[in-house]
Order: sequence, then C-alpha cells, then structure tokens
Amino acid sequence: MGNPTHIAFIMDGNGRWAKRRGLERSEGHAKGAQVAEATVRLCADHGIRYVTLFAFSTENWKRPESEVHFLFQLLSEYLLEHTEEMINKGVRIRFMGRMPGLSPALRELIRKIEARSLHCDRLQMILAVNYGGRQEICDGFRKLHEELNTRPPDQKEEILDTLSEGFYRYLYLPDVPAPDLIVRTSGEKRISNCLLWQSAYSELYFTDTLWPDFDERCFDAALKEYSGRKRRFGGLDEQPS
Ligand code: IPE
Ligand code: IPE
Ligand code: MG
Repeated sequence: MGNPTHIAFIMDGNGRWAKRRGLERSEGHAKGAQVAEATVRLCADHGIRYVTLFAFSTENWKRPESEVHFLFQLLSEYLLEHTEEMINKGVRIRFMGRMPGLSPALRELIRKIEARSLHCDRLQMILAVNYGGRQEICDGFRKLHEELNTRPPDQKEEILDTLSEGFYRYLYLPDVPAPDLIVRTSGEKRISNCLLWQSAYSELYFTDTLWPDFDERCFDAALKEYSGRKRRFGGLDEQPS
C-alpha cells in the first residue's frame, strides 16, 4: 500500500517529556509545538494531502487554568509565526472543533488564517482545537435535526435510510476524507475522543515515543508500518473471480 492520504496525530506525552527532564510541563508543550511544525513539513515532503493535529480536546479544559492559558497562548504564537511560510509552501490551514468555546480574538485569527490559506492545495493542515469526537457527532445530530424539520416526509425517510453513509456531511469538515492512519504517541493505547466517526476503518499506530521526541525516523517508521497493513473494509483480501 502507498502512503496514506490523510494522517491524524494524537500528539501526546509533552508533560511526561518535560517531567523526565526536570522541566515545567509548559516546556514540553513548547517543544511539542516545534515538533508539530516539523511534522507538517514531513507530511508535505511525503505527498500527504491531509494532516490532522489533535491540539486541544474538549476534555483538556479540566487541566489547571495556567496550563490551558499557556496552550492557547502557544497556539496563537505558532499561528502568527508560521502561517506565512506555510501558505508559501502551499499548506491550507483549517480548524475543527467547537469554535464558540474559543476566545473572540482566537476565533478572529482563525477566520483570517482560513480565508488567507483557502487557495493552498498542496497539503491541508487541520488543527483540532476544542475538539471532541462525541461533541462533533452531537453537533452533527443537531444539524441533521434542523435539516429534517425543513424536509417533507418522503425526503426525511430517504435521509434517514442512508444515514450511515450520509451522516458524514453533518460533521465539521465533510469534504475532508477519513484518516487512513491515526498515530498516537506516548504509549497510551486509546483514541481519547479523537475523530470517532471518521476512525471506523482507520489504521491505528501506537508508539512509546513521547511527542516532543517524534522525529523523521519515527515518522518513517509509522509510514513503513502502514504500508505493510492490509485494509479490507470488511471485504476480502483478494476478490474471488
Ligand atoms: C499532549 O501532551 C498535549 C495536550 C494534550 C494538549 P500532554 O500534556 O497530555 O502530556 P502528558 O500526557 O501529560 O505526558
Ligand atoms: C489526547 O491527549 C488529546 C490531545 C492530544 C489533544 P490527552 O493527554 O488529553 O488524553 P488522555 O487524558 O491521556 O486520554
Ligand atoms: Mg496526555
């Protein structure tokens, strides 16, 4: 199998990386942001078309306010510093998550960046911020409910009958294909509310490497493992003739 079209990264382990070095958690996040930037570059170099970076989950608000504040500060700085060069490299920048939960200033920055990079077509970088897979499905259900209210009964039936395929268009970014590969660092073997609907047939790759240590060698190892996987989507390896 060739390279994945879409890779999602659950960037985990910043805190443990810092702790092992006797540093503050924030220093792990700062290093993690640099690694995120380098990883996007690797994706572009490998012809990946979509990369999703899980940056802040709807559950991460449970952390101390100072850490949450630092993470959002870091996100804004990362965007202000790297947007221009990413646009020059053909990277379209998009966001996914509950935008109303973000500060007005960040929402405005997001709006501007999305508009400015709209024409870029080499790679789409999707930042999942205040994102939760369950919340996305619930928000999609709300959109569906509103739409059904506007439809006559026969159309309602048709939408409901084809919902397992059709529900995709009520998700946050319906034009983005499901991830072929989901990479989670730091040794945890769980999805933690990442892309629940979209991950139904994603290949999962777990590595003990902490996110701030994730480098080109780790990236290549994940792609190599993926290239050896057989995806069947419920079918058979070889179709009988
Ligand atoms: C990932 O690193 C960053 C975010 C979830 C925002 P963590 O901060 O979760 O690092 P650990 O899991 O505590 O090591
Ligand atoms: C998952 O990491 C979320 C992000 C990487 C943004 P967490 O550190 O929040 O996940 P849990 O708490 O270990 O499941
Ligand atoms: Mg963690």
